Amino acid sequence: MQLKKRDIFLLALAAFILIFLWNAPPETTSHVPYDETHRRFYDMVAAEGKKEAEKFCQECHNDEQVPFPDDHPTKARCLFCHKLDRN
Ligand code: HEC
Ligand code: HEC
Repeated sequence: MQLKKRDIFLLALAAFILIFLWNAPPETTSHVPYDETHRRFYDMVAAEGKKEAEKFCQECHNDEQVPFPDDHPTKARCLFCHKLDRN
C-alpha cells in the first residue's frame, strides 16, 4: 500500500509537534527551596492546599527581611509561579 497525501501530512504534523515539545524552554521561575525555612510549607500544601501556605510567605518575604527583586511581578499567589521542588 502506498502512502497517501493525507498520511504524509499526518506524519509531518506528528514530527512537527515532537520537535516543538522537545524545544520548549525549561521553566525558569525559581522553585521554593526544600530547606529548613521552607520545609514546613511542603507539608502545609499537601495538607491544606497552596492558598493556606501562601498566607505565611510574606512574614519573611517583605521589604524588611527578604526583599523581592526590583522587577518582581505581582505578589499574589506565590505558589502559582514558584513551584515546590517535589510534591
Ligand atoms: C521564615 C522565613 C521565610 C518564610 C516564611 C518563607 N521564606 Fe522563602 N526564603 C526565605 C529566605 C531567608 C530565603 C533566602 C535563602 C534561602 O534560599 O533559603 C528564601 C528564599 C526563597 C525563594 C528563592 C529561592 C532561590 O532559588 O533563590 C523562593 C522562591 C521562596 N523563598 C519562596 C517562598 C514561598 C513561596 C514562601 C511561602 C510558601 C516562603 N518562601 C516563605 C525565608 C522565608
Ligand atoms: C506572577 C508570577 C509570580 C508570583 C505570583 C510570585 N513570584 Fe516571585 N518571582 C517571579 C519571577 C518571574 C521572579 C524572577 C525570576 C526568578 O528569580 O525566579 C521571581 C523572583 C522571586 C524571588 C527571588 C528569587 C531568586 O532566585 O533570587 C523570591 C524570593 C520570590 N520571587 C518570592 C515570591 C513570594 C514569596 C511570592 C508571594 C508573596 C512570589 N514570589 C510571587 C514570579 C512570581
